[in-house]
Amino acid sequence: MSVDVPPAQADDEFWLFGYGSLIWKPPPHFDRRIPGWVTGYVRRFWQASEDHRGTPEAPGRVVTLISRSYWEQLTDHHGSAPNKVWGVAYRIKPDRVAEVKEYLDIREINGYTIHYTPFHPARGGEPIQTLVYIGTPDNEQFVGPQDPQALAEHIYRSAGPSGLNRDYLWGLEAALDELSPESGDEHVTDLSNRVRAIAARDEKEKEREQIGLQAATVGPEQVLRREQQHHEQTHDFRRGSSIDEQEETEKTSR
Ligand code: BEZ
Repeated sequence: MSVDVPPAQADDEFWLFGYGSLIWKPPPHFDRRIPGWVTGYVRRFWQASEDHRGTPEAPGRVVTLISRSYWEQLTDHHGSAPNKVWGVAYRIKPDRVAEVKEYLDIREINGYTIHYTPFHPARGGEPIQTLVYIGTPDNEQFVGPQDPQALAEHIYRSAGPSGLNRDYLWGLEAALDELSPESGDEHVTDLSNRVRAIAARDEKEKEREQIGLQAATVGPEQVLRREQQHHEQTHDFRRGSSIDEQEETEKTSR
């Protein structure tokens, strides 16, 4: 792992900046959690994940930070990005710093390297120097710009030891929403919406397949009869409950 040298700090505090899953999955042994942002970067789902939201055979996609000056030279389908990359800074208890650094190395290594960047607390005050994990373009897991629909399909079908890739995406969207009214990220929201649409499409396809399977086993007439029965039962139930409601209204108005 390549390690930048941290700039001199006023004290020995160790702060960690989270812009991905760390936002809602805190590191161990922190004693402060502050929402805020860093600048000079763009958050993108451009890092392959073989150990958390995918496998070596079928890597998923997770976020990394791209230096803004590098990103500006690329052709990205998501052509704009907020100046502030929102996330949270965690302060680690001094007596646990070595332990946490070791834990983070194990947990996050898959292509990410350690960097340091100033973090701006949302409530104002001096910037804090934070450690941040970045999958830079020279790492093996870096994927680079992708067509948003293809990326959404990829996220939708990926899963790894930490769970479904889509839950990571939706988890990030929800976690960002909670930080501040201005912490939304169009790249994350657009992908989330696309994956929701894919999930709905898939659900419909499954329903249709189910109906097809039933037709193959019991015959189309029986499927039609079952659907009619279902319709009548629902209709009767609605009629029944509206009569009950009517009686209830009459009783109370007497
Ligand atoms: C994050 O949540 O900020 C993060 C964690 C590990 C690697 C990259 C980002």
